[in-house]
Amino acid sequence: MPAVTKPGPNDLESYWLPFTPNRAFKQAPRLFARAKDMHYFTAEGRAVLDGTAGLWCSNAGHCRDPIVAAIQRQAEELDYSPAFQFAHPQAFELANRIAALAPGDLNRVFFCNSGSEAVDTALKISLAYHQVRSEGARSRLIGRERGYHGTGFGGISVGGIVANRRSFGTLLTGVDHLPSTYSREHQAFTRGEPDWGAHLADELERIVALHDASTIAAVIVEPMAGSTGVLPPPKGYLQKLRAICDRHGILLIFDEVITGFGRLGCAFAAERYGVTPDMIVFAKGVTSGAVPMAGVIAADRIYTAFMRGPEHVIELFHGYTYSAHPLACAAGLAALDLYRDEKLFERAKALEAKWADAAMALQGLPGVLDIRTVGLTAGIDLAARAGSPGLRVYEAMKLAFAEGNLLIRVTGDTIALSPPLIVSEAQIDEMFDKVTRVINAVD
Ligand SMILES: Cc1ncc(COP(=O)(O)O)c(C=O)c1O
Repeated sequence: MPAVTKPGPNDLESYWLPFTPNRAFKQAPRLFARAKDMHYFTAEGRAVLDGTAGLWCSNAGHCRDPIVAAIQRQAEELDYSPAFQFAHPQAFELANRIAALAPGDLNRVFFCNSGSEAVDTALKISLAYHQVRSEGARSRLIGRERGYHGTGFGGISVGGIVANRRSFGTLLTGVDHLPSTYSREHQAFTRGEPDWGAHLADELERIVALHDASTIAAVIVEPMAGSTGVLPPPKGYLQKLRAICDRHGILLIFDEVITGFGRLGCAFAAERYGVTPDMIVFAKGVTSGAVPMAGVIAADRIYTAFMRGPEHVIELFHGYTYSAHPLACAAGLAALDLYRDEKLFERAKALEAKWADAAMALQGLPGVLDIRTVGLTAGIDLAARAGSPGLRVYEAMKLAFAEGNLLIRVTGDTIALSPPLIVSEAQIDEMFDKVTRVINAVD
């Protein structure tokens, strides 16, 4: 592949960057011009090792030839087909392939374009599902502290990250939150799922006792809370949540936007934990990040509950212009082929022990307060600089990019790592060597 070096832009003013300090960024921009496999390349041609699969999404690595070719072919053949009242064959094919990967009776796929849309879709399906079954009083939604479910109003309402909520009014009403599953005191430096914390699922019983089950529609959690800094679920926690939801007729939604498509060594975290929710929210890895796509996988009985009334009447008044966009479906089918043919989910599982060893070796470095790993993810908490939360890891991210040629993600006071699943053992070593140097440098 030719190395195309494009000139950098000379005016950065118009673009308002998301989740980025714009003024600081525009003084010292970090721009990528191209990518291949495990690396990004800056406009100057500098290779940067991708420690984060973009934003937890490029699970098959970057610009993989079969995905690129599939998108190109699709763009020539059918650029767009109306999403309402019409469809195209690849939408059905991809839905079937995703349903085949999902556990149990999760066989019905509703397509969206972003994790945020998919979260709101799952919440809306929950509310409407109870309505069509004449249990419309079930309107409360339960999320979790430190949860991240995107940035739509539904997602930030059930989400539990204060900075994402405090500026945006009263949000959805009738929302309650489970406590976060994280306790440094009881869990620090655990590989995989911590032993302590399953009892925190019992808080759902307290919430049910407060509001009554007849008012609660759904509980939504990330099986592994990613964006808040990699919090694997305590052993037995998700099983308990499932049991309590079953007891009270409450739908359980797993937001697998990060954990889906191999990140934890299985197609979905639901499989890793042996817990089948009523809906799975997916995004990111479905196309390996190559084209925006997301969706909700719903249990058969949820879909069939809507299939009533006159047949010419729309059953669910919801959807997006770009639901099941042809380019996204083409990219999704090619990505799923790659995951299967290169056994990338199995690869993530096989690398998990090596990955955890390499991450845990950072224990004892200056300021490292905790390290958590699960699948091919790691969260490394650094002590905050006095009075400036987030500054130390922000410096670490900038330094890793500028001098370490490494892309890391930072959130709160945590460095989060989640490489493409094609990462080699040598690249894992390289990644943690570089992180070690960076952590020492920001001491
Ligand atoms: C668990 C989870 N849900 C939802 C989202 C939102 O996805 P998007 O940014 O595509 O809207 C994210 C994004 O990181 C996520 O991690």
